[in-house]
Amino acid sequence: MTQETAILSAKPDMGVEAPPVRKVFVKTYGCQMNVYDSERMTDALAKDGYVATDMVEDADLVLLNTCHIREKAAEKVYSALGRLRDLKSRKASEGKTVTIGVAGCVAQAEGDEILRRAPSVDLVIGPQTYHRLPQALKRVERGERVLETDYAVEDKFEHLPAPDKARTRSRGVTAFLTVQEGCDKFCTFCVVPYTRGSEVSRPVAQIVAEARKLVEAGVREITLLGQNVNAWHGTGPDGDKWGLGELLHHLAGIEGLARLRYTTSHPRDMDDGLIAAHRDLGQLMPYLHLPIQSGSDRILKAMNRRHTAAEYIALIARIKAARPDLALSGDFIVGFPGETDEDFEDTLKLVETVGYAQAFSFKYSTRPGTPGADLEDQVPEEVKANRLERLQALLLSQQNAFARACIGKTIDLLLEKPGRMPGQLIGRSPWLQSVNVDAMSSQIGDIISVRITGAGPNSLFAEVVS
Ligand code: SAH
Ligand code: SF4
Ligand code: F3S
Repeated sequence: MTQETAILSAKPDMGVEAPPVRKVFVKTYGCQMNVYDSERMTDALAKDGYVATDMVEDADLVLLNTCHIREKAAEKVYSALGRLRDLKSRKASEGKTVTIGVAGCVAQAEGDEILRRAPSVDLVIGPQTYHRLPQALKRVERGERVLETDYAVEDKFEHLPAPDKARTRSRGVTAFLTVQEGCDKFCTFCVVPYTRGSEVSRPVAQIVAEARKLVEAGVREITLLGQNVNAWHGTGPDGDKWGLGELLHHLAGIEGLARLRYTTSHPRDMDDGLIAAHRDLGQLMPYLHLPIQSGSDRILKAMNRRHTAAEYIALIARIKAARPDLALSGDFIVGFPGETDEDFEDTLKLVETVGYAQAFSFKYSTRPGTPGADLEDQVPEEVKANRLERLQALLLSQQNAFARACIGKTIDLLLEKPGRMPGQLIGRSPWLQSVNVDAMSSQIGDIISVRITGAGPNSLFAEVVS
């Protein structure tokens, strides 16, 4: 799930008394929640006259929005900071000031260490305090080095600006909307409960208002986000307790909102209301990211996932009974401490049984402060590498088989962006595949009927059905 997205384009606000224009370059590591947060930070900074740039050389402010999930992800931050130190001193010799800020999960987990190891960093800000970014930058201007990593008592979402219309438009016809943050599950390998704090659900009214804003700005597809999105709960306008299923029903009523998705969900939080939403809501896309991590009950227990492989398989059967065309994606970890060859074979067996349209798989990475780090029987690196290779070969063959099985099907395609060739657009299938089709750029945002004619390694080809 390591998407790296630089926030590319944004237009300046047409303010009445415009503050001086400054440029911010945001580099986003990690999951979709970081992508969402980067957009909100960019929106928050716009008030102070910051416009986004995709040229780091031009930036007055560089923000790294970081990920701590695996060691490699966290290390990337320090190498990026090394390059930024050089940029900062080069600019200083030209008489220009570059402010460097580190946000995200590494900031939360290792804020002090970042300030110690990287003297060029002016600001460290954790995910729960992004609404304080403008004030934090003012403190930097006064010469302070700022560390903002306390969990804020106030709700950041109430203080962050709603998505800006012009910037939303420039970001395209699909959008993320965080509805839930943090995690109380404490899987023994995972840093998220420590970097993002405990589970918080945003209130219904706030979510609906944000979704409406997105749709007004031309968004056709919204993906609801949360580290544990299906643990979302709230109180509906009717005063009843709502789960994610009820929320999805409510959002599906927004006129112009054609598609809904949600990610990432935990098997233990797939309740009946959510399964019913898959049965009843045409707007809810038949694609579900439902990680299991391992197919071995022994390892699942050691990971504190609190369900068995058989329970997961039975759950999938229930969801598919509600929505037969549902395709699955998942996450896997190989080489969790104590994982034997037999445990790993159980993972392969589970993958064979379930059949994934797509999946992400990782070597277990020991994370400081998690219970997994103290376990004996850490698995040697070469064993992990070998298992990962075997698992990925199997997952890739399933992904290719899924793509090939689409050939000949007629599907709805949401046209998203220009394709590689003039006269072509790239759209998104219900199962999140990229599909190339001949269409005009004026059609971006339309949902059209296409027939899949071929499958390449990373995308499908289609022709318009008249
Ligand atoms: N909340 C989601 C997962 C979020 S983290 C869930 O419970 O499924 C995204 C993925 O990163 C996880 O699903 C897991 O596969 C992987 N991951 C998390 N910690 C890891 C670690 N220490 N080593 C390797 N992979 C890890
Ligand atoms: Fe991490 Fe587990 Fe929470 Fe997912 S459910 S974010 S893997 S602790
Ligand atoms: Fe990474 Fe934090 Fe997301 S650790 S995966 S950016 S919640």
